[in-house]
Amino acid sequence: MALGAQNSECLQCGLTVHEDIVDRRRYSLDVDKNALILGIESSCDETAAAIVRGGEELISSVVASQIATHSPYGGVVPELASREHLRNLVPVTRAALAKAGLTYADMSAIAVTNGPGLAGALLTGVSFAKSLAWALEKPLIAVNHIEGHIHAVLLEQRQKGNGVLDFPVLALVVSGGHTHLFLAEEIDGVWHYENIGHTRDDAAGEAFDKTAKLLGLGYPGGPIIDRISRFGDPKAVKFTFAQLKHIARNQPKRAGRMEEDRKRFDFSYSGIKTAVLRYVETHDMFASIEARRNALLQIASPTDEDFQRLCDRRTLDLVASFQAAVVGDLTSRTMSACEEYNVQTLLVTGGVAANSALRASFEQRSPRSGVRVHFPSRVMSTDNAAMIAAAAYSKWVSRDFAGLELSAEANLQLR
Ligand code: KG4
Ligand code: ZN
Repeated sequence: MALGAQNSECLQCGLTVHEDIVDRRRYSLDVDKNALILGIESSCDETAAAIVRGGEELISSVVASQIATHSPYGGVVPELASREHLRNLVPVTRAALAKAGLTYADMSAIAVTNGPGLAGALLTGVSFAKSLAWALEKPLIAVNHIEGHIHAVLLEQRQKGNGVLDFPVLALVVSGGHTHLFLAEEIDGVWHYENIGHTRDDAAGEAFDKTAKLLGLGYPGGPIIDRISRFGDPKAVKFTFAQLKHIARNQPKRAGRMEEDRKRFDFSYSGIKTAVLRYVETHDMFASIEARRNALLQIASPTDEDFQRLCDRRTLDLVASFQAAVVGDLTSRTMSACEEYNVQTLLVTGGVAANSALRASFEQRSPRSGVRVHFPSRVMSTDNAAMIAAAAYSKWVSRDFAGLELSAEANLQLR
């Protein structure tokens, strides 16, 4: 029903509009505080469903990991990921509802990740969410996965009663598929993003995963490298990063700044992966790597002692140096961006935000520069659907709904 002026008739159907629904803002707010959003996430190798109330209360969250499926291949196999999502979407969603003690009918809207990610994997979640929205006659909300990671931090901050942010806000989204810096702004409840940096090749998490695979350490590499780095010397091997030219060419004009002078802070992590390979070649490490790979395949859940036993000093030092180099580069480029844009609040999120050295590095450097840094809890750093339901909330308030023609977009941009 399209609303006209107070006490008027609906412009489309001629029905008299009730006074208490003419003030759309008040009506929305009353309804919105209790809005229950069911979030669905299937962009990569985790099938997840969650329910969030009013954008700030996590009611339930269920994540089915596909690590066991992809482990033997040392990385995500897209076709297997889609097949696992198809198997898991219904049981995972039912489990999220059961944990919350709620039913499909209680949901106010269905939110789903429609990109970026693996096309086939995204498509399973989008098709499922569209079917639910259609069958239940509920609004459908499309959420960008990267925006979801940003809202993982905001959701947890709101849960802690810390709902007020000092702007400018910068978000470092660093995961297996992404390494981005976004300036984030909230105008009348709607979030807007400006990308001021991204990786020009591999994402940081991808470099962790590929390096671990190369060294025969298993999958996913990030958590393993995080665990074993403390046994090695982070200064043993020197890695250098390319100096990237930072001036952007095609940025929109902004008040007070010329088109070309909006400074960018890009990353590059394919070089360090090649440098590790060169180190392995020149130090004749292939035979010991193969032995370790085979030994680890026989152990269901390797312990720290297993890794220490199977890694010689040179390997431990190489791993620790790799992590220190990536962490150092992520931190210094991000802190330079904070300085350039006078950032007050920094959000560090995505799978790699679970890394202990990265957290310590930002926690050490940010107070010196007067920036307040927030991370998600470790479980909310990696893919989940609570972040999708949380990010959907501002779209619910502004009634930014998707149609049933919604489709998966593997390269969806965040704006
Ligand atoms: O956010 P996420 O679950 O999926 C993507 O959106 O890509 O991130 C997964 C990535 C993987 O590359 C994984 O190795 C990395 O996050 N990761 C970590 C840690 N935990 C997960 N990297 C470094 N240290 C960790 N503790
Ligand atoms: Zn992610």
